[in-house]
Amino acid sequence: MADLILGQTLSFTADPFAAGPGAARHESHGAVLVEGGLIRATGPADALRKAHPQARVTDYGRALISAGFVDAHVHYPQTAIIASWGKRLIDWLNTYTFPEEMRFADPAYAAAVAARYFDLTLANGTTTACSYTTIHPASVDAFFAEAQARGLRALAGKTCMDRDTAPARLRDTAQSAYDDSRALLEKWHGVDRLSYVITPRFSPTSTPDQLAALGALWAEHPECLMQTHLSEQVDEIAWVKSLYPSARDYLDTYETHGLLGTGGLYGHAIHLEPREVDRLKEVDGSLIHCPTSNTFIGSGLFDMGGLTAAGHRVGLATDTGGGSSFSMLRTMAAAYEVAQLRGRALHPAELWWLATQGAARALHLDDRIGNLAPGMEADLVVLDLASTPAIAQATARAETVWEALFPTIMMGDDRAVQAVWVGGKVARGR
Ligand code: GUN
Ligand code: ZN
Repeated sequence: MADLILGQTLSFTADPFAAGPGAARHESHGAVLVEGGLIRATGPADALRKAHPQARVTDYGRALISAGFVDAHVHYPQTAIIASWGKRLIDWLNTYTFPEEMRFADPAYAAAVAARYFDLTLANGTTTACSYTTIHPASVDAFFAEAQARGLRALAGKTCMDRDTAPARLRDTAQSAYDDSRALLEKWHGVDRLSYVITPRFSPTSTPDQLAALGALWAEHPECLMQTHLSEQVDEIAWVKSLYPSARDYLDTYETHGLLGTGGLYGHAIHLEPREVDRLKEVDGSLIHCPTSNTFIGSGLFDMGGLTAAGHRVGLATDTGGGSSFSMLRTMAAAYEVAQLRGRALHPAELWWLATQGAARALHLDDRIGNLAPGMEADLVVLDLASTPAIAQATARAETVWEALFPTIMMGDDRAVQAVWVGGKVARGR
């Protein structure tokens, strides 16, 4: 039976960075028709009610219906160490991250954290995440099995590290990384709503041999995405230069090993050289902005204004648990603040696009998720735009949808999430 879901609706007809805020379409009495896991129609509520009198109606009143949030870069194994105090990237990895990732040698622990991770992200209205795991293949199985059981679209890959810069208990080899990644790819890629992502953690924890092996795997499986980290902190870049003395720059360590291309997801990408910016544009690589992480770990200010103006493919992400939140609302707020510090006030339409369609586009999934449009998968978030007294009093005087939405972007959290639909079914709320 078809479902007709009523509320305010927000969707996109184009990229607001290119087309302006008019790329967003708002219906104050809108409707979404859902059947068989897909969105079949969107439009004014009255017209859709008349056209589909048999549909089961769920009326969310003044709440806002949007495509579910898409989080383009997370580390689900870092769920339990989120908000750990006082370190910068390399220290933070050694002090908090690597000891926690060692615990994922136990498949039961991996399964428990995967379940907790999806409980938290769904509570925050995120319906797709692209995750790193640990070196343990069972950590990939745990993530995909949990996503599959919940009917979620999800992406992940085995995190590969074979260099002695990583602790011995967290090292694979070039060959085992290739073999394990390939076996996991063959097991999970394209099963239900799951996608495998080839995942060298970053150049400092891989040998050139491992980068080359994973580059070869990507060449054999161009249908898969590849994710890694790039130019997050100044100290990290100096470290890369010392480990790869013949590289022209950080990106070159990926480029010379077959790890630069369309379908490459480059997390952080803050301190880029002009050559790196040009090459990333030429190959149409995805730059993943992780603003709560970049302020929390003290990494720097991503150039959203400059990179989008130059036409780069950009997505938004929490970077859990380097990031300090599971919420894409909080992440939009941080993106706004970081852009302000670089002299650019991002429009709410741009922020919302980054957290939905833009992140989906960065993952090359924008033909399936991230928007309310016929044929898209029915992953929805329903938001109360007056979820706290502070937000309600600010929203009460709003005269436009953007004035009504911006207080929730800046101050909202999981209390704003009234319901979540996954694959055309209610996953949370009523
Ligand atoms: N660079 C390499 N690994 C990581 C990680 O786990 N988190 C962040 N923020 N940066 C990284
Ligand atoms: Zn990361």
